[in-house]
Amino acid sequence: MKNPRTILITGASSGIGEALAVHYSKEAVLLALTGRNLERLRNVAKQCEEHGAEVIYEVLDVKNSNAMHNFISKIEEIHPIDMLFANAGVSYSTTDTYIDKPSKDIEIVMVNLCGVIHTINPVIEKMKIRGRGQIGIMSSLAAYIPTPNYPAYGATKAAVKSFGLALRAENAPHGIGVSVICPGYVHSLMTKNLNKPFKIIDAKTAAEIIKRKIIKNPSIIAFPFSVYICVIFVACFSRLFLAKINSAINNQERDP
Ligand SMILES: NC(=O)c1ccc[n+]([C@@H]2O[C@H](COP(=O)([O-])OP(=O)(O)OC[C@H]3O[C@@H](n4cnc5c(N)ncnc54)[C@H](OP(=O)(O)O)[C@@H]3O)[C@@H](O)[C@H]2O)c1
Repeated sequence: MKNPRTILITGASSGIGEALAVHYSKEAVLLALTGRNLERLRNVAKQCEEHGAEVIYEVLDVKNSNAMHNFISKIEEIHPIDMLFANAGVSYSTTDTYIDKPSKDIEIVMVNLCGVIHTINPVIEKMKIRGRGQIGIMSSLAAYIPTPNYPAYGATKAAVKSFGLALRAENAPHGIGVSVICPGYVHSLMTKNLNKPFKIIDAKTAAEIIKRKIIKNPSIIAFPFSVYICVIFVACFSRLFLAKINSAINNQERDP
């Protein structure tokens, strides 16, 4: 979609969501931004307003379907949502010893999978009636390969990829575009303490790539291209490689 006027972005208080918000900011654009950290969200809203955009922001947990529904209905009353990025997400490593793993796994599913559904469901029926709209779902290259140390994260990213591709096929006849976004490593709060075995790009570059590509409504927006190709190759043989990848990662984490 070219020149979306009203854009909803979840997880806009930092990282890729923040960069997308700033990147889409200009005169005559209304941005609806959510996150949980008010101070960071306010700071992002200020940057967007400096670029000429009108901004409505609210502290919201994507796990809360009623709150998401109410916020989205409020935006729809002001202006129909043209484009949305279901971007909010969390991650953790099972090698972190201080956390309650079972409850953290549930939290990841609630945010990364249910949160995406809570964001899209209130909008999609309205987009169908209008016969237009563009949806970007934030998955990951981790969707392609079972990821040792991040089993719940990888599972949710594979789930939203499948959800998005099915939604795309179902809604194309209604004039709605759906793109599943699969970045490799991007600098953000999520990745700041990780050992990154692959090329890493900044959030601004990630937002530029997403904005440039989503105009053409591709099914998948995967980047960096070189890493994507490696991932596709490894994915073909993942059952053979997985034990080796796991021991390589564990050795690296023991001896950084
Ligand atoms: N960075 C990477 O390498 C990478 C690679 C592939 C995919 N991704 C995906 O890209 C998306 C953005 O991540 P990022 O790298 O930009 O990390 P980030 O800087 O940590 O941003 C995550 C965003 O999600 C929000 N969020 C987390 N839990 C939430 C909840 N329960 N309700 C509402 N908002 C919530 C955070 O808001 P608050 O902090 O205000 O709570 C923050 O704005 C995620 O879906 C992530 O899985 C990232």
